[in-house]
Amino acid sequence: MRLRCLLLAGFASGLFAQDQDRRPTPMPLPPPPAMTATGKAEAAKDFHSYAEPSQVLTTHIALDLKADFEKRILTGTATLRLKVLAKSVDHVDLDTRDLEIEKTEGSKDGKAWTPVSYVLAAKVPILGSKLTVSFPKGSHFLRISYRTSPGASGLQWLTPEQTAGKKLPFMFSQSQAINARSWVPCQDSPRVRLTYSAVIHTPKSLRAVMSAHNDPNAKRSGTYRFTMPNPIPSYLMAIAIGDLEFRALGKRTGVYAEPSVLPKAAKELDDTEKMVTATEKLYGPYAWGRYDILVLPPSFPYGGMENPRLTFATPTILAGDKSLVSLIAHELAHSWSGNLVTNATWSDVWLNEGFTTYVERRIVEAVYGRRQAEMEAMLGRQTLQQLIETLPAADTALWFSMKGRDPDEDTSEIAYEKGALFLRTVEEAYGRKPFDAFLRGYFHRYAFRTVTTSDFLHYFQKHFIEKFPNKKGLVPIQEWIYSPGLPKGAAEPRSDAFKRVEAKLRPWLDGKAAATSIETQQWSTQEWQHFLQKMPESLSLAQMKELDAAFHFTGTGNAEIAFLWLQLAIRHGYSPAEVRLRAYLLGIGRRKLILPLYAELIKTPAGKARALEIYRQARSGYHPIAQTSIDQLLGVKP
Ligand code: BES
Ligand code: ZN
Repeated sequence: MRLRCLLLAGFASGLFAQDQDRRPTPMPLPPPPAMTATGKAEAAKDFHSYAEPSQVLTTHIALDLKADFEKRILTGTATLRLKVLAKSVDHVDLDTRDLEIEKTEGSKDGKAWTPVSYVLAAKVPILGSKLTVSFPKGSHFLRISYRTSPGASGLQWLTPEQTAGKKLPFMFSQSQAINARSWVPCQDSPRVRLTYSAVIHTPKSLRAVMSAHNDPNAKRSGTYRFTMPNPIPSYLMAIAIGDLEFRALGKRTGVYAEPSVLPKAAKELDDTEKMVTATEKLYGPYAWGRYDILVLPPSFPYGGMENPRLTFATPTILAGDKSLVSLIAHELAHSWSGNLVTNATWSDVWLNEGFTTYVERRIVEAVYGRRQAEMEAMLGRQTLQQLIETLPAADTALWFSMKGRDPDEDTSEIAYEKGALFLRTVEEAYGRKPFDAFLRGYFHRYAFRTVTTSDFLHYFQKHFIEKFPNKKGLVPIQEWIYSPGLPKGAAEPRSDAFKRVEAKLRPWLDGKAAATSIETQQWSTQEWQHFLQKMPESLSLAQMKELDAAFHFTGTGNAEIAFLWLQLAIRHGYSPAEVRLRAYLLGIGRRKLILPLYAELIKTPAGKARALEIYRQARSGYHPIAQTSIDQLLGVKP
């Protein structure tokens, strides 16, 4: 049932019919948390961590880790500086997953160390193993000696063959949502903010980078030092090691990638500095110093990850024409919404992703114009419609309880698209100027802090809504946040460009024009996406052939267009695309692009056999996060 959310990105409508039988009865809709007796506690609780931040806080972690590419493990120490909040506290509960603990030591000054005892509890689904470390009163430092497991959920170790250069291995992390605990023992809750420093030991031929201060001119010495001086939640700790080179894009922006990828990446991401400047103009100063981008090998399980100072990105955005760089706008936007002002729990994730999707489109509008931003908003609106029509109602509220669920599996695009549409609706109702001023104030007020949905609502009520009494009740805010579906009066993005695509498609669908007569010369990726998404279920094989002959979809180098085409190809049994489908599933590990294709395949018995056969070959190349999702979809036992 977890897969439902993830699959929606792929418009895998048929799957849901089949999924019905396996689906437990939909959860009853949680009442607005502020209205229940226990609601407040429930709304504020982080179900995904053993940490007790009201007792003790980690304020800094110093890592000293060696990357062992043979064993595929990190080994070393994590030294935690603690702030004890309640006098009687003599232990700390940390989150771990598949860590092997060698020893724990305590210290009053961070210099003289004495052994302290610990208990590593049995592994629990979703959460991992609670690590309880005891310490004598007055100890404010803990040093944990440990090693990760080769299957650590937050790390992927790549063989040289899985990289662009094919000569050297690669390793990278993905901590969000709850995978930091698989490589650092920590209070793995977004409520806890900490600074960090690290010494990373690697083979001499490789270079390490982190979500921290990176020295673009670092020599390959095998020892790399990092500091992150701003307090961040644990899910933003990140590391990558590989044959990485750097190229500057602007005075405070740049890109890291493997040497053979670097020129293309630098060209594609050439507008990054402009984006940073545009965002600052809208929402205030960029708080993190440099903004660099790391382009990863294609097995990266996400499109992008907003690791502070160093966004991690999939190479599938390198389309050659900058048409997919809104992903960079998105990750950059997180430098305000998410990294500066952070969701307190994963039930509040819309505060990160909804705000970020809204800001992303504002950046796209500022840098690429309204026409482009509106096309992207329309694609988002269509995704949202699909979600509302297919998800259980309770999962379509902006805030919903993540209790008992895995945020790495169950975070859906509702948080993104309904969140963004809510903010756009408010903007249109109250005016752009006052709303921009409000957002600037909100980011400033909560900078380097965490917020729950009800914190936001209180602040919003007091500092925005109440300022405009003549607009009272214009936007039903409670309904937007706590009710399923869409309230009346939601903003309606419109795209004339998409209207024109539809007008050109119609005569062809009616058999009145040849595909080759459709004028597509000026189309951007988004227009092609819209074109392919408008294809009816009744498409015939002959029509598929005609489309392919006219537009060469099977051979496209654009990963997003190929994704939509391959989905159609599976659905309509278009066999000339079979070779490409296999290559695609073997070559790309971005979960959003591969999971829906597997889901489409398994709708027929023959397709299921093919899915299993391809997956058998592809699985070892996927990131653990993608493996978990596809294992579940295909019913494969790891
Ligand atoms: N922070 C997210 C990725 C994420 C969310 C990881 C929740 C784990 C749990 C990142 O900013 C993101 O949203 N990435 C998107 C790209 C974006 C353009 C929609 C993705 O990877 O597809
Ligand atoms: Zn995001």
